[in-house]
Amino acid sequence: MSGKRKLVLYIAMSLDGYIATEDESLDWLFNVEGEGDNGYLEFYETVDTILMGNKTYEWIKKHETREFPYKNKDCYVFTRSSLEDTEDVKFINDNVGSVINELRNQEGRNIWIVGGGELLQFLLKAKLVDVIILIVAPAIIGKGIPLFKKGDYQLDLTLQGTRNFNQFVELRYSVKK
Ligand SMILES: NC(=O)c1ccc[n+]([C@@H]2O[C@H](COP(=O)([O-])OP(=O)(O)OC[C@H]3O[C@@H](n4cnc5c(N)ncnc54)[C@H](OP(=O)(O)O)[C@@H]3O)[C@@H](O)[C@H]2O)c1
Repeated sequence: MSGKRKLVLYIAMSLDGYIATEDESLDWLFNVEGEGDNGYLEFYETVDTILMGNKTYEWIKKHETREFPYKNKDCYVFTRSSLEDTEDVKFINDNVGSVINELRNQEGRNIWIVGGGELLQFLLKAKLVDVIILIVAPAIIGKGIPLFKKGDYQLDLTLQGTRNFNQFVELRYSVKK
């Protein structure tokens, strides 16, 4: 394992473990008073490759009014359909695990798992996640899209550290292998 670059989940969630409401709103997150960019740029500089599920990609396309936010990174979107690559993203619909292992064996910075919960479930079951960084928002939303979907998997983690950015708490874990 050592020497390989890492797959890092970096994501914001509500205190009760959701990443969006059922209708995919993130208002509960965007309304929180943080501090500066809450460590975002510092993290962003540590990655050069980005993975996301197609629903997260659709959300970004619908809500991001400016240019695609990850323009200077290699961005891969996972889907079970056959979709044409764009200038911003490559779609992966086959051999997902082996594509990720290939990426991981390439030289480079770390790989950011943007989300969402469905892609994450696959990656956790496949034991492909190395680091988990959660930004916890001070909100309980009761229902929504869960970060950790129910499933047959269990991982043990080591707490590496915590920070807070005003109202946000950042939790950093490594995944025991
Ligand atoms: N709070 C945050 O920081 C944060 C971060 C990221 C996302 N989100 C939110 O999370 C929501 C989306 O999360 P989600 O859990 O519903 O969906 P998701 O994981 O983003 O995307 C699910 C889709 O990804 C594809 N997919 C997933 N696993 C796959 C696999 N093993 N192989 C091939 N394709 C695979 C499928 O696409 P097809 O349907 O095309 O087959 C599936 O429908 C959005 O509302 C987004 O805004 C929040």
